Amino acid sequence: MRLSDAARSAIVRLAGQFPQPRSALLGALFVAQEEAGALHPEVVAEVAALLGLPASEAAAVASFYHLYRFRPEGRHLIQVCTNVSCLLNGCRAVLDDLRRRLGIQVGETTPDGRFTLKTAECLAACEAAPVVMVGPDRHGPLRPEQIGEILERYA
Ligand code: FES
Repeated sequence: MRLSDAARSAIVRLAGQFPQPRSALLGALFVAQEEAGALHPEVVAEVAALLGLPASEAAAVASFYHLYRFRPEGRHLIQVCTNVSCLLNGCRAVLDDLRRRLGIQVGETTPDGRFTLKTAECLAACEAAPVVMVGPDRHGPLRPEQIGEILERYA
């Protein structure tokens, strides 16, 4: 796949805002991900070329951050926090329940394309542990018995 002219222009504009085009890499990857749905190898290579970088460098940077994705995701991203507060307050039971209900493992997407399940580091809501984000919505403290009703809200 090839990026659209609009996306390419946005990346070039972004690069122009920095003394070194390399500094625009994170933002450029977001532009590309938004357009392509995921950072497929050819998309990463195109971003790198626009910034005058080796594709391997762009790929290495992208793989370091969990906000970038390399496969298309479902319509709703479910993130289960597994950091300390959430671990101590039952996130394992929540995660197990989600796996069972959705029939997928962490990192997978349901066959109907509705949900992608991931774990996350602290979601900055430790007072509400255990915490789960569904898209931009925070749910917590969450008990497994609440999960069915919450999932029904997301078509
Ligand atoms: S440890 Fe889970 S939100 Fe902070």
